[in-house]
Amino acid sequence: MSDLDKINSIFNAKIDSVKTKEDLKNLKTEFFGKNGQITQQFKTLGALEPEKRKDFASNLNKIKYDLSNQIEQKSFEIENAEISDKLKNEKVDVTLPIRPYQLGKIHPVSQVIDEISAIFSEVGFTVVEGPDVETEYNNFTALNTPEDHPARDMHDTFYLEKNKKLLLRTHTSPVQIRAMLDEKPPFKIIVPGRTYRCDSDQTHAPMFHQLEGLHIDKNITMGHLKGCLDYFIKEFFEVKNIKMRFRPSHFPFTEPSAEVDIGYRIENEKIVIGEGNKWLEILGCGMVHPNVLKNVKVDSKKYQGFAFGMGIDRLAMLKYGINDLRAFFESDYRWLSHFGFDPLDVPTNYRGLSK
Ligand code: PHE
Repeated sequence: MSDLDKINSIFNAKIDSVKTKEDLKNLKTEFFGKNGQITQQFKTLGALEPEKRKDFASNLNKIKYDLSNQIEQKSFEIENAEISDKLKNEKVDVTLPIRPYQLGKIHPVSQVIDEISAIFSEVGFTVVEGPDVETEYNNFTALNTPEDHPARDMHDTFYLEKNKKLLLRTHTSPVQIRAMLDEKPPFKIIVPGRTYRCDSDQTHAPMFHQLEGLHIDKNITMGHLKGCLDYFIKEFFEVKNIKMRFRPSHFPFTEPSAEVDIGYRIENEKIVIGEGNKWLEILGCGMVHPNVLKNVKVDSKKYQGFAFGMGIDRLAMLKYGINDLRAFFESDYRWLSHFGFDPLDVPTNYRGLSK
C-alpha cells in the first residue's frame, strides 16, 4: 500500500467516529495542520524526480480534495444534528394559555403619541418621522437660527463631533425642513419623536419627546392655527370646555410667535384641566418665517402657514396624573403595569381615546 493509500484508510477509519465539532477539529489538525499527515506529504514533493513528482502531486491533490470534502460534509452533518437536537428540546407549545401576569403594557408616551396621531389624522394631517441624529444645518441654520443666535445656547445641545456639524436634535422642528425639501407644497404633517437637551431634573430629562405640526398651503392664517389647536386640546383632554390663551413669544423660525397656555384648577390636590384661574404652558407655535420657506425653496408669496411644537411627556403627565418625568424612562415594570395601557385598545376618535 502506498503512503497516500495508508493515509486515506486511516482517515476513513477515523472520520466515522467523529461526533462533535471538537473531534472534527482534532481530525482536521491531524491531517491538515502544520505537521498534519497531508501537509507532510506536500513537503516531500521537492525532493522527488520531476517525472514522479507530477503523478504524486496529482494523486496528493486528489486525496486532499476528497478528504477536505468529507470534513466539510461532516461539519454540515454535525451542525444539522445540533439544530434538530435544539428544536426537539426547546419545543414551545403555542396552544398553552398565556400567563396573565406577563402581559405587556403600552407605555404612556406611546399611548399619547397614538392618541395625538389619531386626533390629527382625523383632520387631514399625516405622520412623518425624522432621524435623532441631525445636521447642525437642519436643526438650526435652515430654521433661521444663525451661528451666533442666542437660541442656540438655550437649547443645551449635545454635539456629536468637535466641529459641531452633527448633533442630537434639540427639537422636532428640523423635520419641517426635511419634509419640505422632500416634496412640493401643500404640507400638512405631524412629527412625533425623541429630542435631546443637556438637562435633567424632576421635570426635565436629557431625552424627551416632542410633537411637531406643520401646515403650509395657500391662504393659511393664524386663525387656522388657533382653530386647529382648539380642536386638538378639547379632543386630547376629552373635555368640552377648556380655556386657551395665546401669549406673544419668540422663536427664530416663526413670525409672529406665541406660546399657548390652557386653563386649570386644583381639586383635591389634583390638576383639573379646563376651567379655573390658573394657566399652564403646553406648546410653542407661530406662522412659519419666510426665511425658513426660502431655505426649502417654497415661494412664500404663494404659500404660508403655521407650525407648532409640544412636549409629549408633559401632555402625558398632565392627562394621566403622573408627577415625575424621570419615572417614564426607568423601565420599572411595576410602574408600567400601573400607568401602562392595554395593547389591544388602540386609540380612535370615535371609540374614545383612552379607555
Ligand atoms: N421647536 C420649538 C421648541 O422646541 C417649538 C416650536 C415648534 C415653536 C414650531 C414654534 C413652531 O421649543
